[in-house]
Amino acid sequence: MTLLVTGGAGFIGSNFVLDWLAASDEPVVNLDALTYAGNRQNLASLDGDARHVFVQGDICDRDLIDRLLSAHRPRAIVHFAAESHVDRSIHGPGAFMQTNVTGTFTLLEAARGHWGALEGDEKAAFRFHHVSTDEVYGSLGPTDPPFAETHPYEPNSPYSASKAASDHLVRAWHHTYGMPVVTTNCSNNYGPYHFPEKLIPLIIVNALAGKPLPVYGDGQQVRDWLYVKDHCAAIREVLTRGRLGETYNIGGWNEKPNIDIVTTVCALLDELQPDAAGPYARLITYVKDRPGHDRRYAIDARKIERELGWRPAETFDTGIRKTVRWYLDNQPWVQNVLSGGYRDWVTQQYGAEQGA
Ligand code: NAD
Ligand code: TYD
Repeated sequence: MTLLVTGGAGFIGSNFVLDWLAASDEPVVNLDALTYAGNRQNLASLDGDARHVFVQGDICDRDLIDRLLSAHRPRAIVHFAAESHVDRSIHGPGAFMQTNVTGTFTLLEAARGHWGALEGDEKAAFRFHHVSTDEVYGSLGPTDPPFAETHPYEPNSPYSASKAASDHLVRAWHHTYGMPVVTTNCSNNYGPYHFPEKLIPLIIVNALAGKPLPVYGDGQQVRDWLYVKDHCAAIREVLTRGRLGETYNIGGWNEKPNIDIVTTVCALLDELQPDAAGPYARLITYVKDRPGHDRRYAIDARKIERELGWRPAETFDTGIRKTVRWYLDNQPWVQNVLSGGYRDWVTQQYGAEQGA
């Protein structure tokens, strides 16, 4: 038995692969293009571990995926690979359409060919798990109920539109071809290995460097935050026991305005690594808002709890403390990301790039 994971060198994918192999001996084939967001250093603890096969490649490369499927015969595909940053999608949406839409289409078609040729128990057991976001549902008003799985799709950014398109493809491949798919739509994750272009790691990294902490607009936009390892646990549950063709919302029951996130991180840093120049909150700087900025996301995660018994293990207090601690304890990782050294590190560590 083997899993094929896409995007397993990114933030959530690498946490998923590390947690998977900590709990199971089932091998993982990890297909990742190593874009700016992919970092093999996240997986350094698996060097020399035969259960982890890393393949640098693109999910839009049909030949490569066909070769991987026939060589490794995975019993499931867990699909994380995506362009994931809203601000980047505003500046350059093309890569989002290519990876998130065309890439998911390519992967689905390859998976359909593979699954179609399976028989008996192998065919019945096969799963395509699509990892998606709550952003496909659009923006909530202050008193609206949180997003349920039945909420209409109303994506507002190029990123969320591309993820919505990929969700629709996955749905259609189930309805039309009977593909055994499950989809999860999760809220904002935070935790180890989070690339410091996203809010929480950016605030930690900038604060430690004495740089401004940029808060968009009035800082009152609300997000639901989930510790990444809780997301990985939820994916394992859905992969194992989720009903075919269903979608499951995953969230932390933890809605907070951005400014509260920023002040919480500052207070933890004041406690764990005080700055002689004064409290870190002095660095908070309100900046121009993101165009089309969604005001509020909130997740109704009752379905996954009712059907699969999943609930987050971490509260925001415990998860954010672990996260800040992780960044303080892993400064070489941070410095390598900031300097771009993580990209050279791949060549130093592994020589010429690997293919399938
Ligand atoms: P990330 O940007 O940190 O990582 C994405 C990974 O995909 C990188 O390793 C990158 O190299 C790889 N990749 C990009 N394009 C590729 C391609 N064409 N072929 C192969 N690999 C490619 O993203 P993340 O935050 O880890 O998100 C993972 C998934 O979870 C995404 O699908 C995202 O939409 C979804 N998601 C993220 C969040 C969040 O808060 N980060 C929340 C809900 C859902
Ligand atoms: P982000 O981490 O980019 O995730 P997403 O846009 O997918 O929710 O941003 C989280 C929230 O923080 C979002 O409302 C935008 C805001 N934000 C800032 O205020 N300042 C920043 O520098 C960043 C990166 C985000």
